Amino acid sequence: MSIFGKVYDRKQTRSVKWDMLQEVFQSNDVLPMWVADMDFKAPEEVNQALIERAKHGIYGYTTIDNDVSSSIVNWLQRRHDWKIDPSWLSYSPGVVNSLHMAVQAFTEPGDKVLIQTPVYTPFYNIIKELDREMVKNPLIYKDQYYTIDFDDLEKKLASGVKAFIFCSPHNPVGRVWNKDELQKIADLCLQYNVMIFSDEIHADLIFPEEKHIPIATLSEEISKNTITCMAPSKTFNLAGLDASYVITSDKVNRQKLDKAFHRQGFHNMLNTMGNTALEAAYQHGEAWLDELVQVLEQHAHYVREMFESHAPELKVVRSEGTYLLWVDCSALELNKQELKKFMVEQARVGLNAGQDYGTEGEAFMRINIACPKTTLEEGIKRIISAVQAR
Ligand SMILES: Cc1ncc(COP(=O)(O)O)c(C=O)c1O
Repeated sequence: MSIFGKVYDRKQTRSVKWDMLQEVFQSNDVLPMWVADMDFKAPEEVNQALIERAKHGIYGYTTIDNDVSSSIVNWLQRRHDWKIDPSWLSYSPGVVNSLHMAVQAFTEPGDKVLIQTPVYTPFYNIIKELDREMVKNPLIYKDQYYTIDFDDLEKKLASGVKAFIFCSPHNPVGRVWNKDELQKIADLCLQYNVMIFSDEIHADLIFPEEKHIPIATLSEEISKNTITCMAPSKTFNLAGLDASYVITSDKVNRQKLDKAFHRQGFHNMLNTMGNTALEAAYQHGEAWLDELVQVLEQHAHYVREMFESHAPELKVVRSEGTYLLWVDCSALELNKQELKKFMVEQARVGLNAGQDYGTEGEAFMRINIACPKTTLEEGIKRIISAVQAR
């Protein structure tokens, strides 16, 4: 059996996904297929490196040495054709922290910050919590696929937007933006003097026929206008280890960003275990990742086929990457509260409600497919039975 087929009991491990069901769904009787982590073990080399480190038994302040930065440099070169200089790197506990810092470093309260909706919930929170003005460029949804409304984007960028929090690849709609789209976005941002904060946390989770292009690789000018946030956390299931990094090729911008981090008491460090796991994953995790991506694509295909055959009311949006499927439930004709309730009480699955990604998502649910096939089959069976029993 593939290592991705094995079922592990994650209950009682302080898992947000498995141990917070009562708080989140008001029921323990749901199969969790929500928060974006995976029910798979990290690569064995990562686990071994952590065990070796723990055997040492001393967890003092930990520095980031050349081995760690080189593992990132080499990963970006190998996987994304991106040649970065190690001096461009800043380190942060998480991508959401980094986006917070970027907004603080480069915009002022009241400034306009643009997002493309529906989108990952913290993007909204960052803008609200920092008293910036939210400007939305809703994505176009047609034939179970999302594209960018460039006319609207240009109009909004021209209205005095200071920064754009860009989700690439996009959570939850699963788009891996192509070169043409990225070029248009980048050119418009340069034209209207809008900085790009590019959240590329899902960059490695791309189906085999797709390619992720870091927007900063399009040209030197675009690179200088971009702050890119990345991490091994989604890729290798390391979210609990708080290790991520930011790539800023422009020296002045990097100093500004680092200053914002310092002002909040962050000092360009990673915790001992995060440091160890990041290096081991980037050095030894490639074969594991290539297998994972194939499994995820098969899972996406399976869900689409099952719904098409047995519950055609549910339409899976065509995705090109990530382990999150965005499912159009509008044919069920339920309002947002009813839809959420239906999935918990009738289907007994714990999904992310589409309404949390913006008003455009109210008729959608997000399903996390990064689980063993047997778990996925159980979840999909529950949903289909509930739809058929209506
Ligand atoms: C687009 C996106 N950005 C950021 C994160 C979270 O990143 P972190 O845990 O590093 O803050 C997620 C997690 O689901 C995500 O989907």
